[in-house]
Amino acid sequence: MYPVLIDEKSFLPHPVLIVGDVMLDRYWFGEVERISPEAPVPVLKVERIEERLGGAGNVARNITALHGACSLIGALGADEASSAIKRLTSDAGIKDESLTDPDFRTIIKLRMIGRQQQLLRADFETKPQDHFLAQRDAQAAKHLPGCGALVLSDYGKGMLGELQSLITIARKQRSPVRPQHTAVLIDPKGDDWRAYRGASVLTPNRAELRAVIGRWKSEEDLAQRVKALIDDLQLEALLLTRSDEGMTLFDQQGRLDVPARAREVYDVTGAGDTVIAVLAMALASGHDLRQGVVLANKAAGIVVGKLGTAVCTRHELFAS
Ligand SMILES: Nc1ncnc2c1ncn2[C@@H]1O[C@H](COP(=O)(O)OP(=O)(O)OP(=O)(O)O)[C@@H](O)[C@H]1O
Ligand SMILES: [Mg+2]
Repeated sequence: MYPVLIDEKSFLPHPVLIVGDVMLDRYWFGEVERISPEAPVPVLKVERIEERLGGAGNVARNITALHGACSLIGALGADEASSAIKRLTSDAGIKDESLTDPDFRTIIKLRMIGRQQQLLRADFETKPQDHFLAQRDAQAAKHLPGCGALVLSDYGKGMLGELQSLITIARKQRSPVRPQHTAVLIDPKGDDWRAYRGASVLTPNRAELRAVIGRWKSEEDLAQRVKALIDDLQLEALLLTRSDEGMTLFDQQGRLDVPARAREVYDVTGAGDTVIAVLAMALASGHDLRQGVVLANKAAGIVVGKLGTAVCTRHELFAS
C-alpha cells in the first residue's frame, strides 16, 4: 500500500550538513550489591563504560551508517568529553566541524545502570556563549556549498538560538538538487517556533507539536491547526511523527498518513533522529518529500526493533 519508491541505486545523497546540540551519551554499567552506609542510596560497582554520540551527533551517526557523507557543527569544550566525541565522530566517518571553546563544558548525559535498571541520570550542561552563534553561522556558510540538505537538530541546549540568520544563509545557498535554495529540516524543541520561520520542513513528535498548537480534537482539527502553523511559519511541510501510529506529512498537496511498520518494538529512543536523517538524505538525493517520508518510516521501523540507541544500516534499509 505504501511502496518505497526509492531504491538503493537512487539513494545517493549529496553531503548533509548538521548543526545542533551535540552531546556525549555515557553509560556506567555495574552491579548493585549494597546500600551505602553514608546515605540510603545503592552503591554501583562500575564494571563497564560505554559512550555514544548523542543529540545532533546521533543524527550524523544515522547518516554515515547509511553510507551518506555528513559534516557536524556543534559546540565542544576542550575537555575529556570533547576528546571522546572527536574519537566517536572519527570512528563513524563523520566530518566534525564543531566549534571549540575552552570556557565551554561539553554536554554529557551520564546514565548509571545497575541490573538493567537506570539508577540515575546526571546531566552536565553549559549554554553556548553568544559569540558561538556568530561563529556557528560563519562555519555553516563555509560548509554549506555543495550540500544537499541542512539539518538543524535542536535539543534545547542553546546551539540553535537566534536561528533566523542561519536559515537565511541556507535560503540563499543553491544546492546541487534544488536550484532555489538548500532544504532546511528542523527537529524542533520548546513552545516558541517563531525562530524556525522559513524552514523547509519540521519533524515534531506528538508532544512537541501539542506544546505549540494545543490539543487537537480530531484529525480534521489537527489538519487545520497544522495548516495555520505552516502558513504562519512559511514552511513547505510538517512531518508529525506519531510513535506507534506512524507518521503524517502535511504539505501543499494535503496530507499523507503512513502507518508504523515495526513488528517488534524494543527501544524507541532515537527513532526521531533516524527519521530526520533519512528524510534529509532522500531530499539530498533529489527525491521529493513524500517519497522520503515513506523511506524514513521504514528506517524508523527498523531501529525501534533494535536494542539501545541503534542505527539502521544501508543493507537493512534496502533488504526487502
Ligand atoms: N512503538 C512504536 N511502534 C512502531 N513504530 C514506532 C514506535 N515508536 C516509534 N516508531 C517509529 O519511529 C518514528 C518516530 O518515533 P516518535 O514519533 O516516537 O519520534 P520521537 O519521539 O522524536 O523519537 P525520539 O525523540 O525518541 O528519537 C515513528 O513515526 C514510527 O515510524
Ligand atoms: Mg525526537
